[in-house]
Amino acid sequence: MRRSALIRVDPTTWNNHFRVRPLLKWAGGKRQLLPVLRQYYPDSFRRYIEPFFGSGAVFFDLYNGSRLTDRHARLIDNNPDLVGCYRTLRDAPEAVIAALEPLAEGHRAGGAQFFYDVRDSRFNPARAAARGIYTPELAAMLIYLNRTGFNGLFRLNRRGEFNVPMGRYKNPRICDADHLRDVAGALGGARISIERGSFEQSLADAAWGDFVYCDPPYAPLSRTACFAQYTAGGFNMADQQRLQQAVVAAAERGAIVVVSNSSAREIEEIYRSAEARRAGLRVRRVPARRAINSRASLRGPVDELIITNAPAAKLTMLPPRTRMAPARLRVREKRA
Ligand SMILES: C[S@@+](CC[C@H](N)C(=O)[O-])C[C@H]1O[C@@H](n2cnc3c(N)ncnc32)[C@H](O)[C@@H]1O
Repeated sequence: MRRSALIRVDPTTWNNHFRVRPLLKWAGGKRQLLPVLRQYYPDSFRRYIEPFFGSGAVFFDLYNGSRLTDRHARLIDNNPDLVGCYRTLRDAPEAVIAALEPLAEGHRAGGAQFFYDVRDSRFNPARAAARGIYTPELAAMLIYLNRTGFNGLFRLNRRGEFNVPMGRYKNPRICDADHLRDVAGALGGARISIERGSFEQSLADAAWGDFVYCDPPYAPLSRTACFAQYTAGGFNMADQQRLQQAVVAAAERGAIVVVSNSSAREIEEIYRSAEARRAGLRVRRVPARRAINSRASLRGPVDELIITNAPAAKLTMLPPRTRMAPARLRVREKRA
């Protein structure tokens, strides 16, 4: 039996036989930070809310650990292409796969010329004409450009056109039909919603017992770093402050909140404020490796911040299928 067929037959009995990886490479994706973040997953919670969904590393991790079974999950991002792509894959996986297969073949045969032809002569014109309605062809092209483009970046120029150059991948896996079906199955749960929106709406909705994971565009550590450029709009310090207010308010209402961010001084300051402490929020520094910077010299280990009102869990509460040896986990737990 195909792996994806297992999901559709009965997702509740799936029980960690395999893992669903995120669909997209995404700037700031949190796969590497999962061993740390897992320590703050609450044992029980009401709904799951993820206002900065991106590639959804934490959502897929919770899903893989059967932590979302019978729970509502709201997955939100303000990038309309990302949301359009996920919804279309969820609703029409076979049509997306059918449109992606020829793109994978074209790339194998045509390389860079094919990439730029798809980007400039097909994706951008079709995207402009679609006015926000994501067809299976558009979703397939976005997945193709994401798998073959530089570092999985999503960047638009001033005219609103996608302008990421080709990445240097020898043999990129472009169309893994089983994986696409698995992702569609994970996103297609009856209680899961995928929404386009800003963090304010979703955080304002967070109530007692909800688990909220916030992974905003990171505040830059230096003036030359530009982690804020995920979409044409960016995310500036005023946005970080509005996020802090929304996080404090959600924590005061009894939501269990986990926020990740860079260890920029301004971020540490706003979350170490008296009001954040009164809401039960604590700041923890964790070591993390960041791969987004194009300058290799800036990709080394750096500290990141985890801000949360959740207590760090005991090892026994970690999802069952971690690949790290218990000794290493203990070290990480102490550091966090
Ligand atoms: C750091 S990425 C999230 C990465 C994600 N945790 C992952 O594992 O891939 C930040 C995301 O926030 C989205 N975003 C930026 N500004 C936003 C806003 N005001 N409201 C909601 N989402 C926003 C971006 O489109 C991007 O996908």
